[in-house]
Amino acid sequence: MTRMRLGVNIDHVATLREARKATEPDPVTAAMMAEQGGADQITFHLREDRRHIQNRDARLISELAQTRVNMEMAATTEMQEIALALRPDSVCLVPERREEVTTEGGLDLLHTGDRVGPVVRALREGGIEVSAFLTPDAAQIKEAARLGFDAVEIHTGEYSRAGRAEVDRALRAIRDAANAIVKQGMHAHAGHGLTYHNVQMIVAIGEIEELNIGHSILARAVFVGIEQATREMAALLRR
Ligand code: PXP
Repeated sequence: MTRMRLGVNIDHVATLREARKATEPDPVTAAMMAEQGGADQITFHLREDRRHIQNRDARLISELAQTRVNMEMAATTEMQEIALALRPDSVCLVPERREEVTTEGGLDLLHTGDRVGPVVRALREGGIEVSAFLTPDAAQIKEAARLGFDAVEIHTGEYSRAGRAEVDRALRAIRDAANAIVKQGMHAHAGHGLTYHNVQMIVAIGEIEELNIGHSILARAVFVGIEQATREMAALLRR
């Protein structure tokens, strides 16, 4: 039996800490506990406004993680320099400004391509795998391949919000996107809004290798602890 790669996004632990500008709870501890529970990767988003994760968190997680580290960031010169210094295993380029966002919330490569290409090249030259967080859209995926991305993380937000009437269409869009990503020589990942209840239909899509999940795991962790919450999600990712 194989398992999809599970990236646990620990940003919300930092969100809780920053609500008080306190020192706890520590997202670094959370990352270590997620690994104990079977996470294959620790994912964090170092935002330009440092709303939750701070440079210190990014540095310590990069140093201490025993598994893979996946850094989500905007395609800016500042973030590029930080990533090249920290050397995470992968970087996922995500939109932060309104004008960089497609309708459902992925990066709009068709309008930010000029800025994104050099960042992709610099990170890849630094030995970092680079993915683009995109809505399941054929034109965006084609542009990602042209820009030299290693992977595309499919934005599953629309699927996670879909009612009964729309869920089949949303799933089909994700399936088609995963297919197109692999056909164009890239790795297919997915994330956003995935829960213990809706993840199975995504696990069933064979082309998708990796999921990044934050909110649902940390919400459950409030009651059962991060190790146990991670263990339960990891069990659902078996194929
Ligand atoms: N993947 C990416 C690129 C994200 O930015 C996020 C956080 O919004 C996630 C996955 C995790 O989403 P969620 O917290 O809804 O599981």
